[in-house]
Amino acid sequence: MDFDLTEEQRLVRDTARDFAAREIAPKAAEIDKSGRWPSEIVAKMAELGFLGMAIPEEYGGAGLDNVSYSLVMEEISAACASCGVIMSVNNSLFCDPIYKFGTPEQKKEVLTACAKGEKLGCFGLTEPMSGSDAQTMATSAEKVDGGWVINGAKNWITNGPHADYILVFAITDRSGSKVKHTAFLVPKGTPGYTQASPDHKLGIHGAHSCTVFFENCKVPDSAVVGNVGEGFKVAMATLDGGRIGIASQALGIAKASLETSVAYAKERKSFGVPISQHQAIQFMLADMAVELDAARLLTWRAASMKDAGTRHSMQSAEAKLYASEMATRVAHKAIQIHGGYGYSTEFPVERHYRDARITEIYEGTSEIQRIVIAASLLKA
Ligand code: CAA
Repeated sequence: MDFDLTEEQRLVRDTARDFAAREIAPKAAEIDKSGRWPSEIVAKMAELGFLGMAIPEEYGGAGLDNVSYSLVMEEISAACASCGVIMSVNNSLFCDPIYKFGTPEQKKEVLTACAKGEKLGCFGLTEPMSGSDAQTMATSAEKVDGGWVINGAKNWITNGPHADYILVFAITDRSGSKVKHTAFLVPKGTPGYTQASPDHKLGIHGAHSCTVFFENCKVPDSAVVGNVGEGFKVAMATLDGGRIGIASQALGIAKASLETSVAYAKERKSFGVPISQHQAIQFMLADMAVELDAARLLTWRAASMKDAGTRHSMQSAEAKLYASEMATRVAHKAIQIHGGYGYSTEFPVERHYRDARITEIYEGTSEIQRIVIAASLLKA
C-alpha cells in the first residue's frame, strides 16, 4: 500500500492548484453573488485538459488516472465549487459513460469534442417525481421506424442550460415484471428537446441546472448508448464514478474552509492572544483536519479501485457519504471559528457552507449511499 502520490500526480495537482489560485479563487465570490456561468473558466479548464481527464488521448482526453482527476477536482472546488461540479459532470457523468458504453462513432464525434472541452455534456436521470428511486422514471422512448421517440421531463440537470449533449435515460420496455431502460445521446437543437431557465438554488450559483423537456423528440437508432434495455446499469455504473467526483468536490470545499480558518485563527485576537492559542479553536481545527484526511483517503481508495478496473460501488458510496457530510461539518466549524464574520459575505466560509450542502444530495443522497453500502455488505 502506497500513500504517496506519483511525480505525475503531484505535477497535475500543482498545476490545478496554481491555476485555481490565480484564475478562479479571485472570481469565486463574484460568481457566487452574480450567479453567472463562468464561461472563461470553463474554457481554460478545457485548455488544461481538465474536462476529459481520464479519457484516453485518442478521444481528446488527458489520458490521466482517476486519482489525478480527484486531485484536480479538489483543487478546483476549493477555489470555486461551482466550477468543480461543472467539471465533474462533464468528466464523470458524460465522458466516462460514452467512453465505456458508446459506439465507435459516438466516441469519435461526441466524446472527442466533449473530452477536449470544445463541447459540453450533461446527464439526464432525475425527474420531477423520481430522484432517489431512479428506476421509476416516467420518461419513455417508443421504438419507431429508424429510431426512437422520447417523451418526458428531467430536472436538476447540472450543465443543462449550456450543454451541447445530454445522456438521457428512458423506459423502453414495460412488458415484463421489471421495466427496462435505455440510454440515449441527444444533441441540443434536436427538435422536441428544450431547456427551461436555470434553477434558483442555495449554493453553487455558477453551476447552472435546469429542467429539460422531451416532446416527441425523435432520435435515430445510432443515439442508443450501450444495449437497449440495459440503460439502468449504464446509469448506476456511471454514478459509481460520479460519486468519486462529488466526494472530491466536498474535499475541496472542506480544504478551503480549513485553510481559511487556520489563517483567520492566527490573525484574530481575543483575550489578548490570537484565537489559535485557545484550545477551543485548536480542537476544532484538529477535528476538521482529521475528518478531511479520512475523507481524502476514502476518496483516493475509490479512485484507485476505478483505475484498477475493480468494482467500486461500495467504496465510492462510502467516499461520497463521508466526504459530503464531512464538508458540511467542516464548513459549519469554519463559520464558528470566524464568529460573526463567518456569517457575513465578507469571508468565503458562508459560501462554503452553502456549497457543501448539495454534496449530500446530488448524485445520490446520503441515505442512498447508505443503501448502496448496506446492500454490498449484506450481499457479501
Ligand atoms: N453497476 C452496475 N449495475 C448496477 C449497479 C452498479 N453500480 N447498481 C445496480 N446495478 C444493477 C443491478 O445489478 C440490477 O440488475 P438486475 O436487474 O440485472 O438484477 C439493476 O441495476 C437494478 O439494481 P437495484 O435492484 O439495486 O436497483 P434499485 O431500484 O433498488 O435502486 C438505487 C438502487 C441504489 C437506490 C438507485 O436507484 C440509485 O442509485 N438511486 C439514486 C439515484 C441518483 O444517484 N441520482 C443522481 C442523479 S445525477 C445528479 O445528481 C447529477 C448532478 O446534478 C450533479
